[in-house]
Amino acid sequence: MGGESLGTNTCTRAIRAEFFSKEMLVATTLHSQTSAPRQQPTTVSGVAVKQVYSDADLSQVDVHQDIGNPGRYPYTRGIHETMYRGRLWTMRQFAGFGTASETNERFRVLLRKGQTGLSTAFDLPTLMALDSDDPKSGGEVGRLGVAIDTMDDMLVLYDGIDLEKISVSMTINAPAAILMAFYLAAAQERGFDVRELRGTIQNDILKEFHAQNEFVFPPEPSVGLVVDLIEYCTDCVPRWNTVSISGYHIREAGSTASQELAFTLADGRHYVEQTLRRGLAIDRFAPRLSFFFNAHNDLLEEVSKYRAARRLWATLMRESFHAQDPASWKLRFHAQTAGCSLYDKQPQVNLIRVAYQAMAAVLGGCQSLHTNCMDETLALPTEHAATLALRTQQVLALETGVTNTVDPLGGSYAIESMTDAMVREARSYFEKIDQAGGMLAAIQTGFFRREIADAAYQYQTAIDRGEKKIVGVTDCVEPDEQPLELHEVDPMAESRQLERLRRVKQQRSRDEVQRSLQAVRDAARCGENVFPALIQAARTRATVGEITAAMAEIFGRQGARQM
Ligand code: 3HC
Repeated sequence: MGGESLGTNTCTRAIRAEFFSKEMLVATTLHSQTSAPRQQPTTVSGVAVKQVYSDADLSQVDVHQDIGNPGRYPYTRGIHETMYRGRLWTMRQFAGFGTASETNERFRVLLRKGQTGLSTAFDLPTLMALDSDDPKSGGEVGRLGVAIDTMDDMLVLYDGIDLEKISVSMTINAPAAILMAFYLAAAQERGFDVRELRGTIQNDILKEFHAQNEFVFPPEPSVGLVVDLIEYCTDCVPRWNTVSISGYHIREAGSTASQELAFTLADGRHYVEQTLRRGLAIDRFAPRLSFFFNAHNDLLEEVSKYRAARRLWATLMRESFHAQDPASWKLRFHAQTAGCSLYDKQPQVNLIRVAYQAMAAVLGGCQSLHTNCMDETLALPTEHAATLALRTQQVLALETGVTNTVDPLGGSYAIESMTDAMVREARSYFEKIDQAGGMLAAIQTGFFRREIADAAYQYQTAIDRGEKKIVGVTDCVEPDEQPLELHEVDPMAESRQLERLRRVKQQRSRDEVQRSLQAVRDAARCGENVFPALIQAARTRATVGEITAAMAEIFGRQGARQM
């Protein structure tokens, strides 16, 4: 090593010494993990996992009645006989930022890269039914999703996309009916036949009261708007999925898998009950209810959750609601890999987590899938990260072989035992909700929030006690990581949106807008379906905020602080 300056030599030795000491630390940690007897292993949700499962664990399972065959009641093994051999799941990446034109460009990029469905992320003002020029919207316009103020934005958002061929998902809840009215008015203006439009609007306000807090009106009128959309679309947009009954956000708030499952299906049950009370026959609207679940880290637990969901929903619809049409019995769901499982430490490790989570969703029989991007804990995804997330699905579909056979884990002692346990756990939660006085009473008493908060606390405590490991965070830590290149939202997007909105307001007819808003108030006051008035208001270029304010005069307002 002669001739090298002391500095280099010392520096090299120091680096090598530090490297080896780190290596030793990691080796020691791993050795201690593998040599010490492990305490009882549990799933992500804290459910004990046996060392070995056997036929003894299936003593309560009726193979024909509870498991059955793919495409047959109770659909535990999948809703279609052929599943992915007949059609792959829809690759549907959640996307949206800036103004409608910027998001329209990202949609086109993702479709060019092989995405097979669209999923729209709206910015916080839109989610909270505020206009971009509302004082509360400052700094948020176009930041976490696309800014939509009027129907004109909707025309730009899906410009150049064949809405009769590409199914569109819109993740919107409190103002869902308004955004749906914008969508229908825009599609009609572009010459599409609304009866041929395919897609889904989330429109699931109950999970907002349980977990995500994006509600504007009190529970009862909020659910009334959900049913208005179900009723209107059942009549006029028959291929549209009217609610995406969501467990995703319940899980993201910290629930266990069985709570996610139970609370989501309980929400679905409430929407069915309220729509039946509206006078719709079960088989007219039930086939267009859909679901949305989280795909978390514990693969066996997640697969069991999806299989249990199909069995529970099929039984509920046929046995409790007496639906006759098999399409009413089939639980169709979208899955999104768990955002709450992503970390900003060694963010590229998120690619690996997402791949396993996507595998769980596919082994569990999802119909549509979003794979999170590795940089999402740090910023909106870059195009590179979004591409890798989509490629994760394409590798899963084209290279792993898991699509070649239906429900490949079916019949496994562990999976069937866990599926059956999940069914029983969910049913016990249905009883607790009924004992709490039903859905709305349970919301008012904080039942759901307490259960979720307790579960979240248990999970974090398990991490803090070292019982749950997180690569890059609790173990396998890399002190000096290289930062990722992150997406930058154009700071001028807000001013561009504000200018667009100013021009629309300047060019529209004030009288027409006021007349249409009065029609919205009248429909709300008389308890009529507000949709026809909403579509007319959309055409006058009334804004999300103006229409919401008109409805709030009748419904009242409720914010998260009042929970
Ligand atoms: N055999 C026969 N037919 C088959 C088949 C098979 N193997 N596989 C599929 N098909 C048919 C289906 O029956 C369907 O026919 P239809 O049009 O007559 O109904 C057609 O092929 C299309 O299949 P799917 O309807 O299953 O697929 P889609 O992708 O269109 O719909 C869905 C899937 C789950 C029903 C739908 O509701 C959906 O796309 N949901 C997505 C919701 C979404 O994107 N949510 C994102 C939210 S993001 C969020 O909230 C998180 C954020 O807040 C952080």
